[in-house]
Order: sequence, then C-alpha cells, then structure tokens
Amino acid sequence: MSFKSLVSAVTIVIVGYYWMTYVKRGPVYESDKKLNGKTVLITGGNAGIGKATAMDLAKRGARVVIASRNLKKSNKVKDEIIKESGNHEIRTMQVDLSDYDSVRQFAKEFDESEKYLDYFVNNAGIVLDGMTKYGMNRLYVVDYFGPFLLTNLLLDKMKKQSAERPVRIINLTSEGYKFAEVYESSMRKDPQGWFEIFFVYWETNLVNIQFIYNLNKELKDYDITTYSVNPGTLIHTEAVEELDFNTKVLMFIPQLLIMRDVYYGYQTSLYTLLDDSVTAHSGGFFTGCSHEKLWPHATNESAWELLKKKSLEVTGLSSI
Ligand SMILES: NC(=O)c1ccc[n+]([C@@H]2O[C@H](COP(=O)([O-])OP(=O)(O)OC[C@H]3O[C@@H](n4cnc5c(N)ncnc54)[C@H](OP(=O)(O)O)[C@@H]3O)[C@@H](O)[C@H]2O)c1
Repeated sequence: MSFKSLVSAVTIVIVGYYWMTYVKRGPVYESDKKLNGKTVLITGGNAGIGKATAMDLAKRGARVVIASRNLKKSNKVKDEIIKESGNHEIRTMQVDLSDYDSVRQFAKEFDESEKYLDYFVNNAGIVLDGMTKYGMNRLYVVDYFGPFLLTNLLLDKMKKQSAERPVRIINLTSEGYKFAEVYESSMRKDPQGWFEIFFVYWETNLVNIQFIYNLNKELKDYDITTYSVNPGTLIHTEAVEELDFNTKVLMFIPQLLIMRDVYYGYQTSLYTLLDDSVTAHSGGFFTGCSHEKLWPHATNESAWELLKKKSLEVTGLSSI
C-alpha cells in the first residue's frame, strides 16, 4: 500500500468514526434511576420520540399517561409498552391540542382522575400546514397555544403537589429557534409550501422556549422546574415514513447523512427528566444531553410581555 493510500484510508476511518459518533448517533444518557410511584404525562406518547420516552419511563416503573388524538393508536402502543416493560400502570387519554375545548376537557379529566403529576412532557408536535376551527394556523396551535393552555390548566395541580413532591415540566422544541422571529401575522396565516411551514415551526420553537424560560421565573416559589429540549436536528420517527413521495425523495440525502435513530432522539428528554444536575439550569435549553446558553432574543423581557399578552388572549386565560 502506498503512503498516499494509507493516508486516505486513515482519513476515511477517522471521518467515518466522527460522523457515526457525533452526527448519526449522539450522546446517550445512562442512569439506573427508578420512577416507581411517579406519574408522567406525555403528549404525543403514541409515536416517535414520545413513544420511545414513554417506553423508557415505563421500564423505570413510572405510571405513564399517554395523551394523543388517536386513541386506537395509543392503545396499541400501550399494549406494546406493557408487553415489553411488564409495567401495567399505563393509561391512554384523548386530547386534540388544536382544539381548546378538547384541551380544557382533558385537563379537567386528568386533574380529577390522577392523584399526582410529577413529570409533564409536552412532546406532541407537528410540522404541517392547515388552519384550526378558530381561524388560526394549526401548527402554531398544536405546537404552542394548545400546550400553553394545557400547561396553565394543570399548574394549580402541580403547584399544590410541589409542596410534597417536585415537578418537572419539559417542552420539546428545536434549534430552529435561533433563526426565528415572532410575527403575529403567521399565527393567523395558512403557510404555503415547506419553506413557510418550517419558518412557522421555528417560530413555535422560539415561543415555546420563551414560555419555558419565563414560566420558570413565575414558578420560583414552587418546587417546579422547567426545561426546553432539543431532541436533535433530524430524528427518524414515523412522521418520516408518512411523508409524500416527493418529500421522501428530497429527504433521502439528509436522511442518509444526518438523520438519527429515535433512540438518540429521546436521550435529552431523559436527561432533563432524570438528572439531578439539571435543576441548576431550570428554564434553560438542553441539547445533546447538556445545557446550552440561550441566544439573547429568546430571553428578551419585552418580547415575552407581548407574547404572554397574546397567549392569554388567544387561549382565554386571565393569568399564568
Ligand atoms: N423528529 C425530529 O427530527 C424532531 C426534531 C426536533 C424537534 N422535534 C420535536 O419533538 C417532538 C416529537 O417529534 P416526533 O418527530 O417524535 O413526532 P411524531 O413522530 O410526528 O409524533 C407526533 C405526536 O404528536 C401527536 N399529535 C399530533 N397532533 C396532535 C394533536 N393535534 N393533539 C395531540 N397530539 C397530537 C401524535 O399523535 P396522534 O396522531 O395520535 O395525535 C404523535 O404522537 C415534537 O414536538 C417535534 O417538534 C422533532
């Protein structure tokens, strides 16, 4: 073998190693922490990252409540979780985050029927166009206003309980917030094409981060901590399988190069749910199983005041 071939071979091995370790895979959170006696509520727990998170928490002994629109799909996943984890404390409930009446009904039912809420994982999310019956952008409502309303409706329960047992609230978001700005106009407009859809999606990532950051301040007198979680840039979930042919073709190269298995996609959720060290950064942003300082536009106080006013007005709440 010539020297040149040897250098090429070594370079390929090194680049391949870094690509597999840091791009196609990612940090893995290891902990043998058990959650017996703890209750977890996870929206969108019947698919993708939510399902993987629900499975892991069930194996740790938690009572897991899966809240999604499609009860049939959730019940199938419930059976799978029970079979694989041996944990029978799995409950499915129906909620449509695009419908405030459904969110209110769900919150009431959850509050009345569940004794505790120790971990609340706002995981459900979509990257789609369409409008709600309220004439609002569906993506904005499912990814932000619905979870904002649900979190607020469950806050009293969490506050009461936090005197005895701590609560953690986790919101799934993405790094896309870095490129986003909040435009009131996009809340009421049906996005046209993938470009616009992604811009709205990143906007919802930003508002979720602003909410979680400021919710932490609002809850400073309670043993409730809050976390924004980026699961990774591109995670392989069922949503990818459901894409239309043209989008699948478009996604082929990124999928091959950077898409990670769902196993790597739930590690940061797990880290913020289980690790003792994260409470020091409550309100913050977590990615790759570590805390990352937020970009300044996400922590701007006057931007939050405007967003808070809008969020209360849209969801019909009087205060946080
Ligand atoms: N996958 C990625 O690459 C990636 C990257 C960054 C951030 N994220 C974020 O991570 C979270 C999970 O993503 P994922 O890829 O795992 O999602 P997914 O596989 O597409 O699953 C979405 C979940 O949301 C639920 N859902 C959708 N619309 C709903 C509604 N109106 N009301 C209630 N539940 C609803 C779905 O259940 P039903 O169909 O039963 O409603 C499903 O369980 C999302 O917040 C996403 O924005 C994902």
